[in-house]
Amino acid sequence: MKILVVGSGGREHALAWKLAESPEVDRIFCAPGNAGTEEIGENVSIPATELSKLVRFAKENRIGLTVIGPDDALAGGIVDLFEAEGLRIFGPNQKAAQLEASKIFAKELMSAEKIPTAEARTFSSSKEALDYCSEVMPPVVIKADGLALGKGVIIAHARENARQVVRSMMEEHVFGEAGRRIIIEECLRGSECSVHALVSGEAFRMLATARDHKRALDGDEGPNTGGMGAVSPADNWNTEREREFDDSIMQPLLHGLTRSGLMFRGLLFPGLMVTSSGLRVLEFNCRFGDPETQAILPRLKSDLVSLLMATIEGRLEDATIEFDSRTAVTVILASGGYPRKYDAGKPIEGLENAASLPEVRIFHAGTKRQDGKIVTSGGRVLAITALGESVTEARERAYAAIRQIHFEGCHFRRDIALRLAHA
Ligand code: AMP
Ligand code: GLY
Repeated sequence: MKILVVGSGGREHALAWKLAESPEVDRIFCAPGNAGTEEIGENVSIPATELSKLVRFAKENRIGLTVIGPDDALAGGIVDLFEAEGLRIFGPNQKAAQLEASKIFAKELMSAEKIPTAEARTFSSSKEALDYCSEVMPPVVIKADGLALGKGVIIAHARENARQVVRSMMEEHVFGEAGRRIIIEECLRGSECSVHALVSGEAFRMLATARDHKRALDGDEGPNTGGMGAVSPADNWNTEREREFDDSIMQPLLHGLTRSGLMFRGLLFPGLMVTSSGLRVLEFNCRFGDPETQAILPRLKSDLVSLLMATIEGRLEDATIEFDSRTAVTVILASGGYPRKYDAGKPIEGLENAASLPEVRIFHAGTKRQDGKIVTSGGRVLAITALGESVTEARERAYAAIRQIHFEGCHFRRDIALRLAHA
């Protein structure tokens, strides 16, 4: 079978690498891909947002399975377009993808189904939102309703700060249409956990848990990023939490979706806060996490193609999902300046030496091949994953690999999974 992976990040390289392991796969394409995906398949120069070009490519090349990485392609209805042409694709359709694409839609569904989440109010008028900011006790979390490249969630620690955020979203339109409506919600305390589940209608199967490290600098300082590292499994999860998750989140959610006439088929990744009074949903993502995927997939022992096909065909009950019991630690190497302005085009050295170290996998994100050399081309450049019997061993292996890699301005966190190593 021929496979097409849509996207160009570390998540897509990890997906392509794992899918390519399957005996069912003959050729693998990545659109648009990066210098890493090019080593395991063929890059196709179609951006992930060019939906009709992707459909045409899949049709002309008789692609047997297309796997979507980024949220905006799902929100744009890529799955509906592929299905209308009889093409097999992994991911939710446009209506079901609203769960991620509209935070207000997700909140309303959670409220109707009594799914535990932060107390929230929805606003479509800036005046009402500004008045509310003057009454409410900070800190509050302000969220643009729509997709905003992972930047649409801001924690305001003072009333004036909250008012500024509301003005920027609703009056200055910094996130365009995505900020036309907003949510203001209570700020939850606790520890975060990323949960990935394969979902097919009302059936679901869990993949491994993970924890992301969202802030740019050590000690959870600095601005928010797309994620600077991950560890799998999560240390704040156990069978009791899993039962609570099934009963109070997944089952009511999937019932609620069915009741609303929506059929979710794909990967559902709820971001959770583990609080002293139980689990709370922070958000629903409708796709694999980045960098969580780079930590989760190296632990997956089962065939990913079979799992995705079982999801699409509604056969999840029979699926075998096995994970390596070892820990995976993923550290992101970013361009100097990321998540703010950064330079690109810096040559990257030492990739082969790093990849030859034991239990290390190197996933490319913002890289491209230029005149035969691999150079940086994005904010997050590489994701270095290592497996270990303990968190400490996985960390040591990941950081040993990082010491082999050099590019100008490279920055990374030195404390990924450090708290777990000391626990
Ligand atoms: P979201 O895109 O909704 O997951 O938000 C991005 C990040 O903002 C989350 O991973 C949390 O770190 C933080 N966040 C979102 N909602 C809340 C909340 N209600 N309380 C505290 N932190 C939050
Ligand atoms: N790592 C968080 C996300 O993919 O949304």
